[in-house]
Amino acid sequence: MTLNYSITLLNANKTMIFNFQKLHLSIRTMSSKISVTEERKLEKQRKKLVDQIIRVDHAGEMGASFIYKGQMAVLGKSSIAPLIQEMKEHEEKHLAKFEELLVDYNVRPTILIPLWKLAGFTLGAGCSLLGEKGAMACTVAVEALVTKHYDDQVEAMLNNNPKLDQELIQIIKQFRDDEQEHHDIGLAHGAEEAPMYRLLTAIIGAGCKGAIFLSERI
Ligand SMILES: [Fe+2]
Ligand SMILES: [Fe+2]
Repeated sequence: MTLNYSITLLNANKTMIFNFQKLHLSIRTMSSKISVTEERKLEKQRKKLVDQIIRVDHAGEMGASFIYKGQMAVLGKSSIAPLIQEMKEHEEKHLAKFEELLVDYNVRPTILIPLWKLAGFTLGAGCSLLGEKGAMACTVAVEALVTKHYDDQVEAMLNNNPKLDQELIQIIKQFRDDEQEHHDIGLAHGAEEAPMYRLLTAIIGAGCKGAIFLSERI
């Protein structure tokens, strides 16, 4: 009687242990499936963010290069020409870097590139027709927006995946400082004294925001 009872108890224990092992195994399988799905989801989100950043920044740097080309076309012989030329060269370096990043990260450029070129040149040349201060007002309006835009992107990447996007964060931080310098050059050279400074800034700001919104998406 005692022997039968002990054997039954032993079998019951074995079954319990076996079931517990099966349960443990299925929980582990489930959790690893969940973490793989979660990782894929996060990687997809990261890829989307990085794609948007590189696409829109490439377009923006293209636009900036053409703004300074437009300024040079009108003010190429003025006293501020060397300053404009210097800023133009910075933008061309930024653009070249984003051209590289498009390839490295396998990102498609926006279909709006021809529009960025045309709008950039027209904006740069048009404001320069108002004089040197008009050109500087254009620089201040654009660079203020770009600086804020780059700050927002760095923040988004820091909140997303700072380790994986370290290189991109460093590049954008460095470009952000260049854009801040351009902004300050504009202010130091009478941007705020340009005719219709406030109106000009508001129009340029709204135009750039619209172009950024579209270029992140198409
Ligand atoms: Fe730039
Ligand atoms: Fe700039």
